Amino acid sequence: MCWIFVALWAAALVGLASGDPVSGASVYHDPETGFTFSQYNVMYSLSETITFRIAVPSPVTANQPYDAVLQVVAPIDVGWAGLAWGGQMTYNPLAVSWSNGNNVVVSSRFATQHAAPPTYSGATYSVFKTGTHVNRTHFQYTAKCTGCTTFTNSAGTPTTINPTGTNRLAFGYSSSRPNNPSSNTSSFPVHDVYNYWSQDFSSGANTAFASLAAKNLG
Ligand code: HEM
Ligand SMILES: *[C@@H]1O[C@H](CO)[C@@H](O)[C@H](O)[C@H]1NC(C)=O
Ligand SMILES: *[C@@H]1O[C@H](CO)[C@@H](O)[C@H](O)[C@H]1NC(C)=O
Repeated sequence: MCWIFVALWAAALVGLASGDPVSGASVYHDPETGFTFSQYNVMYSLSETITFRIAVPSPVTANQPYDAVLQVVAPIDVGWAGLAWGGQMTYNPLAVSWSNGNNVVVSSRFATQHAAPPTYSGATYSVFKTGTHVNRTHFQYTAKCTGCTTFTNSAGTPTTINPTGTNRLAFGYSSSRPNNPSSNTSSFPVHDVYNYWSQDFSSGANTAFASLAAKNLG
């Protein structure tokens, strides 16, 4: 098979046309929460995407931990969807989410090996009432994370994600649901698909981050 075909197919699988036709990247101004997000649509099948939106404060003091707001939109047939903040399965905060009736459950995890990730108290998610819902076709949540942007990497070194540049992210997806969906400590089955992309956090900069977060947590 021609290598260029393989490369184009791989590029097509990770990004879907919405804004930037090559990467699936764009900026999203959320009328509901008021945040401006950098957005990425990641394909988990040949026709379906999960949207990952990230909002950060601006300015941020260099190399200091900072809060971020994560908004995820997933088709209702998604059993669970996870974001790896440091772009790989191990040694970075994982935000794993699923629908549970009319609610969305967000679970903080951290893996040190390629196995079911234990819960992680180093990152906490405060889910907003605004920007969080389940309907016939999708589940969506919006949450402020404290502890997602600074973590200890596999070499034992503190790492902070660049709030004004491009970062590698990763996701995992399963079509199967967690065993006990009402609990954020539930076990869940291994992913059917995972992949990586680069997201420009600078396009999700919010000068009014603190007041917007306070308003949405109201
Ligand atoms: C029951 C839960 C999970 C199990 C058993 C599991 C297991 C594994 C295994 C065995 C691999 C290696 C696959 C290979 O080499 O082909 C892998 C890779 C990967 N997993 Fe998971 N995983 C789980 C949950 C997650 C979650 C929640 C995420 C993201 C939020 C994730 C993201 C990834 C990624 C990005 C890779 C690619 C390799 C890497 O980045 O280290 N996984 N997983
Ligand atoms: C589960 O939710 C509780 C209550 O909001 C929270 O204190 C805890 O950190 C969460 N655990 C995980 C693993 O996300
Ligand atoms: C269901 O939720 C999705 C994701 O938030 C949204 O795009 C869609 O418009 C909603 N559908 C209805 C009928 O409200």
